[in-house]
Amino acid sequence: MQYNVVVIGSGPGGYVAAIRCAQLGMKVAIVEKYNTLGGTCLNVGCIPSKALLDSSEHFHNAAHTFKEHGIDINEPKVNITQMIKRKGDVVKANVDGIAFLMKKNKIDVHTGVGSFVDKNTVKISKDGKDTTITTDKVIIATGSKPTPLPFAAFDKKRIISSTEALELKEVPKHLIVIGGGVIGMELGSVYARIGAKVTVVEFLDSLIPTMDGTMGKELQKATKKLGMDFYLGHKVTAVENKGKEVIVKAEPKNGGAAVEMKGDYVLVSIGRRPYTDGLGLEKVGIELDKGKIPVDDHLKTKVDNIYAIGDVVRGAMLAHKAEEEGVLVAEQLAGQKPHINYNLIPGVVYTWPEVASVGYTEEQLKEQGRAYKMGNFPYKALGRARASMDLDGLVKILADKTTDEILGVHIIGARAADMIAAGVVAMEYRASAEDVSRMSHAHPTYMEAVKEACLAATANRPIHM
Ligand code: FAD
Ligand code: NAI
Repeated sequence: MQYNVVVIGSGPGGYVAAIRCAQLGMKVAIVEKYNTLGGTCLNVGCIPSKALLDSSEHFHNAAHTFKEHGIDINEPKVNITQMIKRKGDVVKANVDGIAFLMKKNKIDVHTGVGSFVDKNTVKISKDGKDTTITTDKVIIATGSKPTPLPFAAFDKKRIISSTEALELKEVPKHLIVIGGGVIGMELGSVYARIGAKVTVVEFLDSLIPTMDGTMGKELQKATKKLGMDFYLGHKVTAVENKGKEVIVKAEPKNGGAAVEMKGDYVLVSIGRRPYTDGLGLEKVGIELDKGKIPVDDHLKTKVDNIYAIGDVVRGAMLAHKAEEEGVLVAEQLAGQKPHINYNLIPGVVYTWPEVASVGYTEEQLKEQGRAYKMGNFPYKALGRARASMDLDGLVKILADKTTDEILGVHIIGARAADMIAAGVVAMEYRASAEDVSRMSHAHPTYMEAVKEACLAATANRPIHM
């Protein structure tokens, strides 16, 4: 079969690229090695983790906040089997949805490992059988896999990655999390809410270290209330599976006494690495750069008809970044001139409170030597937050000292994940802090904290503080 475009990998990068190509009139095939579409995000990433975050948050509220709301119930119990089953149902509904979208857009789905025979021929291998398809263009969207510790491989039983952490058959007694980034904090808080003791060991001095420093500090305070413990600035030196127990040793990176802890599971969440195994890149002469497929500003590889997008190329490993790149490549192939503003791709951590950011962090502005002003507004001063008992959190606005243009929006608090879209819109249109502060924000809403933080940034005159 001859195609205009073959997409290898069906995650949010690949399936979105395939749909957009089909919408633009191309004959498209997508190759996926697993039996379900949707990639990491839908099968073992964004969607299942959010399903467990929601379930565990319901449990936490039933156990801790219902009483104060005037709802008396018997002591709630966790049914982990049902929680995991519901997560599975949510995943199935989502991946079935992608299969439907492929049919709707007349995209051929080929199940099997895709690899290059040459720059216009892709081999699909499944159960010892090979078929080949030919194409004008190829989009590589093969994603990423969890990074293991160099001295302790994933045994998938006690030393686990996020994939196994989404499928546990019991609530751990003590979950040790190595890496206090996004996965560590999201999945750590899932298990902390449903009764596990959770200890996080992080190499750097702050949690979620790629985000604005204030966010990490506030998140640590909030998750401490869940009973989570932290060893920041600690380097893990050994992880040993002793059968039903795992021993983790770590030392403070600036000297001091080493610590040793025992847990029943260790979640290793120290980042993900691009995945290109079995792709046959050598057949088309593409060499990796630190594991990633090198691409130019148009996401084109060194081979004229081959593009690469998503986690397998440089940049944030986020589903919506992969999606934007899929659209960009498709539209370029159709002769359009699309553009991505990478600085305005938001980042979200779905803990409770949620953390969401867009634009520059305060640390980045300092590093750039850029003069800025800052406005903060705490959730506890919001009527809406008092009503819902979601008092933890704040909004931090960073704006250019002279022009007042918003340079960064950083939110930790209830519903930050949804609120950050307003920050993206404001920054896409290059709004000033004063612009936003003069727009009517419905009362009572969490978004009023954004308006107030803009008032604080622009003229140091918040109304409710
Ligand atoms: P993937 O989604 O990794 O898809 C790649 C696909 O290619 C896979 O299906 C793979 O099987 C297939 N493939 C690989 N090689 C071949 C081959 N040779 N032939 C055929 N098929 C192949 N991001 C967010 O934005 N928000 C979140 O809330 C979020 N939560 C996450 C939670 C967890 C636990 C994890 C692990 C990740 C999360 N992410 C989240 C990150 C997000 O999942 C990734 O950024 C996103 O999936 C990347 O999309 P992609 O299309 O580049 O690759
Ligand atoms: P991450 O990069 O977010 O965090 C890894 C953390 O581990 C960092 O804080 C790092 O300093 C620390 N670390 C690295 N090596 C260490 C070591 N040896 N000992 C102790 N700490 C160490 O990576 P994570 O959490 O594994 O997630 C992978 C990717 O998946 C991220 O890039 C993220 O963007 C994406 N993701 C996105 C989510 C979202 O958007 N909500 C949710 C989950 C994952």
